[in-house]
Amino acid sequence: MDDEAQSARSRAPLRGALLGCGFFAENQLHAWRELEGVEIVALCDLDAGRLERFAASFSFSPSACYTEAERLFEEVGLDFVDIAAPTSAHRSLITLACAHRVPVICQKPFATDLHDARMMIEACTRAGVSLTVHENFRWQAAVRETIDALRDGAIGEPFFSRISYRSGFDVFRAQPYLASTKRFIIADLGIHLLDIARALFGEVERLGCQTRRVSADIEGEDVATMMLAHASGVTSIVDCSYATRQSEDPFPQTLIEIDGERGSIRLLAGFRLQIDRLRDGRIERTERLVAPSAPSWSTPPWTPIQQSVVRFQADWLAKLKTDDLPETHGIDNFHTLALVEAAYQAAEERRIVIPQRW
Ligand SMILES: NC(=O)c1ccc[n+]([C@@H]2O[C@H](COP(=O)([O-])OP(=O)(O)OC[C@H]3O[C@@H](n4cnc5c(N)ncnc54)[C@H](O)[C@@H]3O)[C@@H](O)[C@H]2O)c1
Repeated sequence: MDDEAQSARSRAPLRGALLGCGFFAENQLHAWRELEGVEIVALCDLDAGRLERFAASFSFSPSACYTEAERLFEEVGLDFVDIAAPTSAHRSLITLACAHRVPVICQKPFATDLHDARMMIEACTRAGVSLTVHENFRWQAAVRETIDALRDGAIGEPFFSRISYRSGFDVFRAQPYLASTKRFIIADLGIHLLDIARALFGEVERLGCQTRRVSADIEGEDVATMMLAHASGVTSIVDCSYATRQSEDPFPQTLIEIDGERGSIRLLAGFRLQIDRLRDGRIERTERLVAPSAPSWSTPPWTPIQQSVVRFQADWLAKLKTDDLPETHGIDNFHTLALVEAAYQAAEERRIVIPQRW
């Protein structure tokens, strides 16, 4: 490529393909369309009918649609792929991306187990391809404000936290596959909360976990309570439930309590961030709203999650320009996945487990 062609190429929007066109991919595509300097130029889904409906609703021409990822990689020049297919499909799609030297963003849980995760991370490293896991909960406006308040030293050294998500929302309507998965709430939802715990307090030395299945008509656990001992000295309780019946369901809000040596932070329902600070022997309280701004395409009650997808993808684009690693790069997210594995092991073996490290 000559200099002029190279500079035109660097000004052109990044060309991405969306692999997997199901429930959540819609949010990813809407979010890419909100961002400058990037364009989704091709779609792929194994299910031709689903692909056709998805393509039609986003005005893609049939020539941009593929039912075989291999053909897509061969025929379309790509700067990245955004994988929104189920976890079981990730390894083969990432292997293809590596063969074609195409950077990868991949939905959580990005691997079926830690061995699978290692294989994918190593394959990307060998191919010189970047791997980022689409972990968006830490990008929710309210969660990020909580992380920032802690990092700014609002309450001094933290020593205790509770990260809680309890709902009775019917998640099976949009995601019916969740009813038949043997590992349900920790793998699907707890993974996000465990990632928030890592974003707040760092790596985990020991983990205990208790699970239950309350709903009779699903395969996996719908309630889990985990206790994490972080290397930083913080103890955190991470609890989640899809069996909690309440008149005011906070779905899909994550609620957070943090106690520190000089105060406490509470992220309360209704996106209220309350900070109590010890000053001159007295506790002073501030409270502000940290609600997400709704994208034009948002479909309540999913708004906080949808906004976090825009923020996650915007950060990925920004890091590409500065050559910095996105927060949830492959090796980082290995440690979140390791907490999921440790939680299932701890629950099954009724003991404290030391999570694997990279
Ligand atoms: N980050 C979040 O907040 C969030 C929320 C929901 C789902 N997810 C994740 O997104 C992923 C997809 O979930 P979903 O609810 O959209 O599932 P879904 O079943 O609605 O969609 C997945 C699509 O991928 C297609 N697919 C399967 N194998 C494929 C392959 N090899 N190549 C191309 N397409 C393939 C399926 O035909 C289907 O249309 C999962 O990993 C899930 O955990 C993340």
